[in-house]
Amino acid sequence: MPGRIPQTFIDDLLNRVDIVDIVDNDVPLKKTGRDYQALCPFHGEKTPSFTVSQEKQFYHCFGCGAHGSALGFLMNHRGLSFVEAIEEAASSVGLEVPREEGTHSPKIDYSPLYEILERAQKYFAEQLKTHSDRDRAVDYLKSRGLSGIIAKQFGIGFAPDAWDGLITALGIDDQAMQRLIHAGLVIENDQKRRYDRFRDRITFPILDRRGRVVAFGARVIDKGEPKYLNSPETPVFQKRRELYGLYQVRRSQQNTSRILVVEGYMDVVALAQFTVNNAVASLGTATTAEQLETLFKTAPEVVFCYDGDAAGRRAAWRALETALPLIHDGRQAGFIFIPEGHDPDSFVREHGPGVFTGRDAIKPLSEFLLDELSKKTDLSSIDGRARFIDLAEPMVKKIPRGSFRQLLVQRIAEITDLDPQALVALAGGVRPQPRPARRAQRRGRASMVEQAMKRLLFDPKLANLVADYAPIARLPDENASLLAELLELIANRPNLTTGALVEHYRDTPHATILEQQLETPLELDDEAHAIEFTQAVDALLRKAEPSAFERAQAELRRRTDEAG
Ligand code: UTP
Ligand code: MN
Repeated sequence: MPGRIPQTFIDDLLNRVDIVDIVDNDVPLKKTGRDYQALCPFHGEKTPSFTVSQEKQFYHCFGCGAHGSALGFLMNHRGLSFVEAIEEAASSVGLEVPREEGTHSPKIDYSPLYEILERAQKYFAEQLKTHSDRDRAVDYLKSRGLSGIIAKQFGIGFAPDAWDGLITALGIDDQAMQRLIHAGLVIENDQKRRYDRFRDRITFPILDRRGRVVAFGARVIDKGEPKYLNSPETPVFQKRRELYGLYQVRRSQQNTSRILVVEGYMDVVALAQFTVNNAVASLGTATTAEQLETLFKTAPEVVFCYDGDAAGRRAAWRALETALPLIHDGRQAGFIFIPEGHDPDSFVREHGPGVFTGRDAIKPLSEFLLDELSKKTDLSSIDGRARFIDLAEPMVKKIPRGSFRQLLVQRIAEITDLDPQALVALAGGVRPQPRPARRAQRRGRASMVEQAMKRLLFDPKLANLVADYAPIARLPDENASLLAELLELIANRPNLTTGALVEHYRDTPHATILEQQLETPLELDDEAHAIEFTQAVDALLRKAEPSAFERAQAELRRRTDEAG
């Protein structure tokens, strides 16, 4: 475990990075007045309601309520973890991420591996252009219909037919050799003989979600076994986590509402050549829950493309089982079954992209599920219908509670001709899954503490107006001490923005209350904004510490009462 990242570094980092640059990199922004706008990348829309404030270092979508800091954006849009988001943001402004010392072991630095993989990629790409044997590779790619542009876009290369191609080019000293071995590019056998893993093959670089080369897939030219050879698992490549083509998908579109999952490298590349820029491939295995979660973070709809044969339907069923627990509200999954004898590559070349861009060919996951269960049971008999429900129950229970689950139960009731009431056990009964964002309606009006806190969060500079905040902490109100803490924090670090404040409290018990304040935006141009803030704080201070004048008045009243 690497050491903790110091909070002060995160504060500093958020001072240096600009959320506008970070977002604009993924979602081109347009300046409108003081803020920047775009079509929201987190939900489908036709008019932009996604707003990024440079001043607050905060984004907010008025349509779907998505919001957060620069780090939050990297996490939600690119599917990065918190630490990955920090690393990404830091590298964008040329900062090293420091780690606190302590019981943790130091962080292993994998940059030499990324570097050697990047150099290997350059080498393979170069060989496709210059090697004396390049014609065979180029002719093969042409015979597969690949355009030069698309080959370049995906970094396709050529590993020449030699035992020591990469070794000679990159293995200049022992340190470099060790790196080639650790990166899975060179194999060392029992006799300590070393040789290139990829020989006489077309190479496909596999990029991680930050666009770094982490592995290769490599195809024989024309015929041979094994058809594809992939990098082994290495410290920077776990195949259950990566998806071929994901980086390109995220790059190519600012508003991906659907992602296609196909089986092969060639499928991804061919689809892209025919303008279908939203396909990824899992790497020679069934799609894992981890991969699927990443995909759902990129787009709300995931469509698996499989052959229509028995093997394809089995693969689809496995994908369905993986997908069910991940289908929260707002997410959709479905299938496109490719006619027998075709894969997406051959199909798109013969029939064009229509099937992959339209809705018509997509079979919703629910329909596939019900069809498969119907095939296994005889719905004309009561026993068969009972059996149908038995089979459906464990599947339904995997789905998080919500409207998708409810609809499915309704369909099952229709199919089995049962009263949906009889199926309530199916509709509910399972622990609700935590849902991100959108919290339940807040009860009642915001308290004075909350009102002040909300204004302060959206406009931290307001803290300058408060000279003495300490008494507020003594108020019995819920969150009064948090308000005082915020005022102190900003007094000490006057450059903190909204985004930085949010990050300061990430994963602390206070995060929820802050999130609640930030959920609905605030109109800061309102003249009354600062006044309302100072009035609220004044009232709180007066409550916490009545002035000498007020104390005297109270004393006077008491005495008058006594006298009277
Ligand atoms: P396919 O055999 O369907 O390959 O394997 P394909 O993509 O259609 O390849 P072409 O069109 O003949 O070039 C699908 C995927 O399974 C993995 C690869 O990821 C491949 O893209 N695979 C297949 C391997 O890893 N090794 C193999 O030997 C074969
Ligand atoms: Mn194929």
